[in-house]
Amino acid sequence: MKNNVPQKSVPQKVNKRIGVIERYFDILPVSSKTPVITLSEGSTPLIKADNLKKILGVNFNLYLKYEGLNPTGSFKDRGMTVAVSKAAELGAKAVICASTGNTSASASAYAVRAGIKSIVVIPEGAIALGKLSQALIHGAEVVAVKGNFDRCLEIVIEICENYDVELVNSINPNRIEGQKTAAYEIAEALGDTPGYQFMPVGNAGNITAYWKGYKELNEKRNLKLPVMMGFQAAGSAPIVEGKIVKDPRTIATAIKIGNPASWKQAESARDESDGVIDKVTDEEILSAWQNLADREGVFVEPASAASFAGLKKYLKEGNFDPDFRGNVVCILTGHGLKDPDRAIDTVSRPPVVEDSVDKVVETAGIK
Ligand code: F0G
Repeated sequence: MKNNVPQKSVPQKVNKRIGVIERYFDILPVSSKTPVITLSEGSTPLIKADNLKKILGVNFNLYLKYEGLNPTGSFKDRGMTVAVSKAAELGAKAVICASTGNTSASASAYAVRAGIKSIVVIPEGAIALGKLSQALIHGAEVVAVKGNFDRCLEIVIEICENYDVELVNSINPNRIEGQKTAAYEIAEALGDTPGYQFMPVGNAGNITAYWKGYKELNEKRNLKLPVMMGFQAAGSAPIVEGKIVKDPRTIATAIKIGNPASWKQAESARDESDGVIDKVTDEEILSAWQNLADREGVFVEPASAASFAGLKKYLKEGNFDPDFRGNVVCILTGHGLKDPDRAIDTVSRPPVVEDSVDKVVETAGIK
């Protein structure tokens, strides 16, 4: 019958993707007076990783929470929408952050939408190219400091004490509130909280935020608390070593941090959840990063792969039960395009051939 034939020319209804504040209004410190500064962040996919499950030879369900699909390419956007909206509500003229890159990319994008100036203080030469280009194209005032991230954070904190600028690093509680929504999304997608959550730890705001989210879900909906498995890079592992690392080192520049601002909160998340904060080497990070890309088609920046690297390490060392009956989630915090140099340096360059069909067929191994 004519009426039942789908009409290609009829535009399909497009579902509006709503941002974190609209989606989680009731659990965030916002009111009808808060101007909503959003890029439709959040609602990132929870991807089932069956290829990796097979390689690992495990029986649990393995999921990847791909936070690199947020508007500026990292999980920071969840917190930034709340932090910048609240700054706008208070009439702030400028926001400031210290950053290993992603916070600066996010802060500068949200500040533009709010019509607020953004100031970004970064460690010189230690920011992946993609992130720096984001802050610059969004018109942030970018200042590179001859010092590491920890020093940059000290500087911006002191500036905020003396000048009329709003701090949007994760010590701003609005950042934590926004970022906790990722725990809600995971619980909604699984219909339950996961048994274990593996994630990278840098300045330790994100593990603090997830733990807050899970504790709320436990109190309000009686969902079980997951075990939090946080991973620092071996050359930048102050929480693991129990002391400040003066000269942190790692190829995972996003988590190259020697004195995390939310150190105590990260320890609480670890202890209250019966979890761990441990370290993974750069080699383990890069191997996990490659696995995610060439087995699951998920391209992340190296720091993000610390989560999966941690899971691999625990399985390999016999510290994690491959037959665990439940859901295991690895958080993938940032997109691979943030750090294209790392990918290009790691894989071999493509061969260049004459412009003939035969050459392309032969070189590509087409049979
Ligand atoms: N993964 C990525 C991609 C990050 O950018 C960061 C932190 C982390 C993990 C660690 O999260 O600090 O909450 O423990 N990046 C911050 C920045 C420090 O300035 O962009 P955390």
